[in-house]
Amino acid sequence: MKKIKINGGKELKGTIKISGAKNSAVALVPASLLSDGIVTIDNIPNISDIDALNEILEYLGAKVTRIDNRMIIDQKNLKNKEIPEAKAKKLRASYYFMSALLGKYKHVEMYFPGGCSIGARPIDQTLKGFRALGADVLEEGNKFIIDAKELKGNEVSLDMPSVGATINTILVAVKAKGVTTILNAAKEPEIVNVATFLNNMGAKITGAGTSEIKIVGVDKLGDGFAEVIPDRIEAGTYVLAGALMGNELKIENIIPDHIEALTLKLKEMNIPIKIYDDYLIVSKCDNMKPVNIKTQGYPGFPTDLQQPMTTLLVLADGTSILEETIYENRFQNVPFLNNMGADITINGRKIYVKGPKKLKGSEVTATDLRAGACLVLAGLKAEGETVINEVEHILRGYENIIEKLKNVGADISLFE
Ligand code: EPU
Repeated sequence: MKKIKINGGKELKGTIKISGAKNSAVALVPASLLSDGIVTIDNIPNISDIDALNEILEYLGAKVTRIDNRMIIDQKNLKNKEIPEAKAKKLRASYYFMSALLGKYKHVEMYFPGGCSIGARPIDQTLKGFRALGADVLEEGNKFIIDAKELKGNEVSLDMPSVGATINTILVAVKAKGVTTILNAAKEPEIVNVATFLNNMGAKITGAGTSEIKIVGVDKLGDGFAEVIPDRIEAGTYVLAGALMGNELKIENIIPDHIEALTLKLKEMNIPIKIYDDYLIVSKCDNMKPVNIKTQGYPGFPTDLQQPMTTLLVLADGTSILEETIYENRFQNVPFLNNMGADITINGRKIYVKGPKKLKGSEVTATDLRAGACLVLAGLKAEGETVINEVEHILRGYENIIEKLKNVGADISLFE
């Protein structure tokens, strides 16, 4: 198991360039399967979640070439095979293979996906979409055998705007007969990225980015190209690093609209932040006001920034209340922050963060990806040495995190 060591208290100055979005890339790669030709995806982040998807693609017979951040996928020799449980369980996004294979071959056999353990994370809404389009779903323990004589467009009304269920329904609908309408669809920018890619291959999708998405089925998808959008969660994490320790820290290659829920809160807290077309400059502030935050689907405050944000709230002058509405178990970072000197109380889905508190270096554990990001931020701020265990979780989602932070002045290293 790898560890990260940080000697805290160092000023962060210079530029951090944001990589391609994990949650876009992990959908674009399986979506490429729907093409019968060759697709190119640019700005793919080099993270372990992409390696896991790459492995599944090659297992299915695709030819994958990766040059720096470009991925070229030749689907011509693809075969529909059962994806082994160990591969499916490596990450949540493996379930995009379920829908892409179903959409392409009308039959798929796969296991329940993995992912960070931050709540139950059922897939009932994805299965609702499959069934609405004419598939029969047989569940045998952890295994799903999904079959459709014919896939036919239909109206799919999601019980909640789930990112995964929205993308999965799109992936099945693009080659179904007739028109599919997804109501109460998720509006995250990653969904727009996926729809644009599919349209580039020949699909007919409109309304992505709104709560009503229409898909007119087509027979064939050909070659295609996509560029992964900048990662708004990675951007948010480094903006928070700047709010904690920055001296005019520049965060570049961002789409400012995508992180507006965060930057508005930071302004409310008094953080000096200047926003330009595709970059921003952020510095630390010694007099931060507390704020109240409730996580919501896009464009609301993202659950994926809730844990990193908690580190900043520890330093604010007063009590902040943070409510997590998406996942029931996303406070596993809190006991570790408290060990480092924070004063945070958990009450159901809310935490009460009493500040300002001084953070002291300590040995902590990354229980999941964003909890890990929260602890890296705490380590950057803390006095003394912080050692973070189980950082494989962090490396799943942050490209070159060590190098990026070192380059702007952090004293951070990775060791076994
Ligand atoms: N939900 C259901 N049934 C479903 C689907 C979702 O009850 O069929 C519930 C979940 O239990 C959860 C909520 O709806 O409470 C949100 O789930 P959603 O399906 O939107 O999440 P996801 O697609 O599994 C993606 C990201 C997450 C991110 C969420 C919300 C990927 C691979 N993952 O998950 O990213 O938190 O959307 O924005 O795209 C992360 O990057 O750290 C991460 C967890």
